[in-house]
Amino acid sequence: MQNQPIGIFDSGLGGLTAVNEIRRLMPDEDFIYFGDTARIPYGTRSLEVIKKYSLQDCRFLVSKGVKAILVACGTVSSNALELLKSSFSLPIIGVVEGAAKRAAEVAEQSNGIIAVLGTDATIKSGAFTKQIEKINPSLRVVSKSCPMFVPLVENGHTATDDIAANAIANEYLSEIAPQEPSAVILGCTHYPLLSDIIGSILPYSTLISSGSEAASTLKERLYATGMLNGTGNGHTVYYTSDDTMLFAKNARRFLGSDISDSIYITDIENY
Ligand code: DGL
Repeated sequence: MQNQPIGIFDSGLGGLTAVNEIRRLMPDEDFIYFGDTARIPYGTRSLEVIKKYSLQDCRFLVSKGVKAILVACGTVSSNALELLKSSFSLPIIGVVEGAAKRAAEVAEQSNGIIAVLGTDATIKSGAFTKQIEKINPSLRVVSKSCPMFVPLVENGHTATDDIAANAIANEYLSEIAPQEPSAVILGCTHYPLLSDIIGSILPYSTLISSGSEAASTLKERLYATGMLNGTGNGHTVYYTSDDTMLFAKNARRFLGSDISDSIYITDIENY
């Protein structure tokens, strides 16, 4: 069991922001990543579709023999985590819990204000807000859905001087900036690629990457259940539901390395 790989999935490339951190924290684990680029975005879909897609994503990873799954997608974590946990008998970790905990720690030391940025479906679910309220009901949470951030990131509009990305970010954050939140949860795993732009508009805020925080939560969980692997070789295999070479080309921006010899296609509709 210990030697099996860990599964990670997202609607596309965003979950790769968790991969860097997870590999740093668990260098002896092997990973299987699935990015559903044929069906991205998830964040503008109905609850039923998000549930259907995420069940298929997990069935695919389970068919590859994973021992645990990191749901590296804020949208799925916010809307379907309980369904996934009750549908599969292996540890499944989402990105809400770790980011909410870290944001609360930061805000408690400062002005008590937390901003949550996410997709439409994530913000509508209220999942981050509810989790923060559970930790400390006196913290104030402001939320904003930023639906254009995902297409900007998927299409490479992430440079600090990108005109479109700056204009859209300024528009989305105009009401949040004057409130000077001490912590800002990047509740969608694509958003860390826009950290420089978001950080320039919210210079007083600590930006929290939900994917990176989830990597620590996953490690703690595997350690606690004796499932941590000390003998793997840190190998990651990637799967996508669309063009593999396009995925590899875009993944380079997230990972800083070439994955073209370890990327495969799968027909996710078969799962
Ligand atoms: N990375 C996904 C998330 O964290 C992207 C959302 C989407 O597919 O719309 O929510």
